[in-house]
Amino acid sequence: MADKSFTLLGIETSCDETAASVVRGAAPGPGEILSNIVFSQTEAHAPYGGVVPEIASRAHLEIVDGVIEQALSQAKVTLADMDGIAVTAGPGLIGGVMVGLTTAKALALGARKPLIAVNHLMGHAMTARLTHGVEFPFLLLLVSGGHCQLVGVDGPEDFRLYGSTIDDAVGEAFDKTAKILGLPYPGGPAVEEAARRGSPRAHDLPRPLKGRAGADFSFSGLKTAVRQLVQDHHASAEDVSASFQAAVIDILRDRTRIAMQMFRRDFPQGSTLVVAGGVAANQAIGEALAKLCGEEDFTLRVPPPRLCTDNAAMIAWAGVERLSAGSGGDDLAISPRARWPLANVPHS
Ligand code: KG4
Ligand code: ZN
Repeated sequence: MADKSFTLLGIETSCDETAASVVRGAAPGPGEILSNIVFSQTEAHAPYGGVVPEIASRAHLEIVDGVIEQALSQAKVTLADMDGIAVTAGPGLIGGVMVGLTTAKALALGARKPLIAVNHLMGHAMTARLTHGVEFPFLLLLVSGGHCQLVGVDGPEDFRLYGSTIDDAVGEAFDKTAKILGLPYPGGPAVEEAARRGSPRAHDLPRPLKGRAGADFSFSGLKTAVRQLVQDHHASAEDVSASFQAAVIDILRDRTRIAMQMFRRDFPQGSTLVVAGGVAANQAIGEALAKLCGEEDFTLRVPPPRLCTDNAAMIAWAGVERLSAGSGGDDLAISPRARWPLANVPHS
């Protein structure tokens, strides 16, 4: 553990959660979460069955100041106590990212603190260091509403991409399946709940790319099959959910096993699988991955659900990682980015 510890305010506004958090610690972690305020806009978007960007940016703008105040007061600190202000600068819905980034710039300027512009995906990637102090290198399975990737992580900014989705993200597949079945938004928890009462063998759904070389994912064929199944037959939501989830688990297991082999070739000393992103909150997926880790001699690390879904503690922690690595912060002129890939060097 490094002797210098950092205290950071984190701000997250890239999707439909307005979040602020104060975190203290140093790489490699674990760190201390002094406050973690997450205001979810789920209710505002629920009538539309998905996030409406315009509604999201306005909602962020209305409450971001209050959420930050709450995070500071609950942590019993002031801006003057901070070593820096970390904020999501992308990827995400650009209007929301602009609200968070502009607020963070104003605070950094006013309080004369370094601004740390964080990649949202890096926040997810580093969460297991905040919670468990996981050492580099580790294999990351990032499964959220917007992303589905397998990445080798060997430093706070050292990523090697093994596979990613060629169409939908896995969380998106959960959300669309829920919509087809008339289940409430967000779909992941609703499908998981319905699946508990259904049979995973009721319907034989496709497993796109399963058994193929490489570690890429594809979910759009699965989603189409679910739509056809529901249109053509009077299948129960419970059985469709259970069969859908079984197909997803099969795909994740197959792709992750291949990425484990790729990772082992690159990092023979590495043996940790970290799962991050909202879908990591799914218990059945967690159990299947635990079994896979047992078979392949990996240790599984999954942050608790409230740190798997979008939050600002992971953004503050990403800032801690940057400062621990000697960064002095970013220029206040930095721009928000709608797209910002974590690793754009494909594995050869
Ligand atoms: O990481 P996250 O909060 O936001 C993004 O950055 O996308 O992930 C949200 C996604 C949604 O698609 C949601 O349906 C999914 O995570 N999700 C789940 C579960 N809880 C959330 N998917 C499956 N099972 C769950 N229990
Ligand atoms: Zn996310």
